[in-house]
Parts: sequence; C-alpha cells; structure tokens
Amino acid sequence: MLKFPDGFLWGTATSAHQVEGNNTLNDWWDWEAAGHVKNREISGLACDHFNRFEEDFTLSQKLNLNAHRFSIEWSRVEPSEGEFSDSALYHYRQVLESLHRHKHVPMVTLLHFTLPRWVAEKGAWENEKILFWFERYVRKCAQVFGDLVPLWNTMNEPMVYMFEALMTGHWPPGKISLARQIPVMRRLIQAHAQAYHAIHDESQRNHWKSQVGLAVYYRLIQPWNPHSILDRWAASLRDSVFNQLFLNAIHTGIIGFPVTFNQFDPNVKGSWDFIGLNYYSRGKVRFSLGCPQFLFTEEIALPGTEKNFLGWEVYPEGLYDALVDLARFQKPIFVTENGICTDEDIQRQDFIKRHLRELYRAIQDGVDVRGYFHWSLIDNFEWAHGYAPHFGLAAVDPVSQRRFPRESARLYGEIARNNSLEL
Ligand code: GAL
Repeated sequence: MLKFPDGFLWGTATSAHQVEGNNTLNDWWDWEAAGHVKNREISGLACDHFNRFEEDFTLSQKLNLNAHRFSIEWSRVEPSEGEFSDSALYHYRQVLESLHRHKHVPMVTLLHFTLPRWVAEKGAWENEKILFWFERYVRKCAQVFGDLVPLWNTMNEPMVYMFEALMTGHWPPGKISLARQIPVMRRLIQAHAQAYHAIHDESQRNHWKSQVGLAVYYRLIQPWNPHSILDRWAASLRDSVFNQLFLNAIHTGIIGFPVTFNQFDPNVKGSWDFIGLNYYSRGKVRFSLGCPQFLFTEEIALPGTEKNFLGWEVYPEGLYDALVDLARFQKPIFVTENGICTDEDIQRQDFIKRHLRELYRAIQDGVDVRGYFHWSLIDNFEWAHGYAPHFGLAAVDPVSQRRFPRESARLYGEIARNNSLEL
C-alpha cells in the first residue's frame, strides 16, 4: 500500500477547446476549417462539455475525485476587443459553482493555447499589445471568478505553444521563423508575470485566497548516444531551452539566452506560488546538421520501448526525475497533466499505476507534491491529431454524446477513494 499525503488532490484535467464544442470565435476554429488537422477533422461539437459539464462533474464525483482542472476560453469571455460577454462570464461561474457542489477543488487555466480570433488577426503573440490584452482579460476573470478559484494557472505549456506554432508550424499561426520565436518567448514570460500580479492584486483587494502558478510541459531529455559530445550538447541545449528557460526566468527574474542576454526583470522574479508539471514522455536527442530550425537537435524514438498511440515512449521513471529536478525551486508542485492515448485500456491502467508509483517515490524523497490531475476525464479533440488519440478515462460516443467510463476510470477512482495505491 502506497499511502499519499492527507489532503492530496486527485483530479482530471481538460481544456476548453478540446471538450466544450463550438468554440467558433478562436484561432483554432479557423485553423481546422482551413484543413490543417489530420484527416481534415474539425473540433465541432467536441464532447459538448459546454452543455454537459454537470454530467461530467457527476461522473468525476462518482469516481471519488476531489479536484478538477479546466480552462476558460478567452474567445467566449471577450469575443471582441474590450467587450466582455456577460453570458460567458455567467457560464463559467456556473461551472465553478457546479464543481464546488460536487466537492471538487477547481484549478483554472486562463490560457490553454487558443486565442480569440480578434487577437489572432492582430498578430497574436507577435503583437506587443497582447501583454495589455491578456492582462485585461485575466483581471476580469480574477474579479468575476476569484471567490470561487483557489488555484490558477496563468497559462498552459508556453514552450509547447511556441514549438508547435512557430517551430513545427503544426498549430496556428503556423509560421516557422526563428526571428519570431525570440520576442514571443519573452512576451509569454512577461504575460505570465503580469497575470500572476493581476490575480494577486484582485484577490488581495477582495480578501480571497488564491495561489497562482502555471502548467509547464517537461519532457525528460537525454542524449541519444551518451558517449557523443555532440549528442550531449544537443540534449542539454534542448533541455535548457524547452524545459528550463521559462522556469529559471520565473525563479530568478533573469530571462536567459537566447531570449535575452540575461536581462533581469523584477516583475518576473518569483511570480509563482506553485509549479504545474505536465509530464508525458522522454525524448532521446542527437545533434543534427539537418535540423537548424530545431537548434541543430533532433529527437529520435527509441526502438523496442513501449509507446502510446502517437508513438511517444512510456517512461514512468521520467516523472520521478522531473519532480526531483523541479524540487530545487522549493515550491509546491501539482502534476497538472499526465496520461496516455491508447486503444488498450489495460495499457492505461498499467500507465496510471506505474506513474503514481514514481510520484509516490518522489514524495517519499521529500518532493512537495500536492496533487495529480490525470489527462483526461473523457476522450477529446487532440489538436492537430484530431479525435483518433483516446486519452480519456471515459470514452465518448460522438453521436449520442454518452460517456462510457473505462476500467481505468474505476481503478483511478479506487486510488482516489483510498488515497493510496495498492501494488
Ligand atoms: C498536453 C496539452 C493538452 C493535451 C495533452 C495530450 O501537452 O496541454 O492540451 O493535448 O498534451 O497530448
């Protein structure tokens, strides 16, 4: 029996665009319409979670979960510049009230990749004004929802956004350019810090208790050939840019190379109360002259290892390594995402057990982990891959919209109920 600390949060995570359906006013809607998603799929009605959130939270409560992470869709809340939608604000208050009624601690993400169309049309993260727009939106959310939200993520996986939107071009705006990446990274760091301070301003004024952090993607990165100096260099470069740069900037206030020449920004320093860790997999990386767009580094799938439906290696030990690495920042940590897309639910059950064992090991070794949010509650729209990857504890019938909890849901629910994992 591996017993988790009292008060440990057990939840699942979703994001607005992936589950709500009909997010017609954002950049992804247009990206899908232009045929950029695999098999030209579109998110469409998704899981109709916009209308079925009560039912989904009832399912989550039945599974004995006590927390839920979801995102607010900026394009619903502010459909045109400077104009906030009362009905959308009302909707998300209903969502939050429902979570409280279902005895769930809500964790809100304010930006989970999608941007309102009007922001995208004005250049998205390439327009300096986004710092003003984003802060205004965040402040509004903090004012309207602050009494109901103990845990905020300013944003989800800023480096993944940067990677997919401006390095691979798989996501909107799909412009591949090194010159664009640098100012966008700097702006994402500043936007996070401004959001952090805006939420705290509002909650102090109203005597609300809120903790603010962000969810970062952390891929365990190792050299393809540990004996090759070039591969070791490539792996350490990837790790320092994709895993560490954002974290170090927030910790020290120093925005490292290549974003700036170690510029110090006092507003950025210490702008977090917790760290959200999204962990999925490990990457073996080698030096490659053929990949200048990826800083001359190339990731290669390790043959003979267990993979998920999308070919990502299943590597539970990496969760332990990531947690131990993040512990150096001396902040509470939530695992804000961890999960697997697979058509074999038995593989998901095994994945959950093996990852939770690593999480437990990290806690035993002194890492302050406060909760675990499995990705995801229900199968949903997996960005450029469409609907084929199944990450859910429950399947969703796209026609009837009925939810079908899998055996892994039952297993995860048992773990949450007992606050312990039986090996
Ligand atoms: C994360 C992302 C989620 C979801 C998940 C599974 O990187 O935050 O939105 O797509 O990956 O791939």
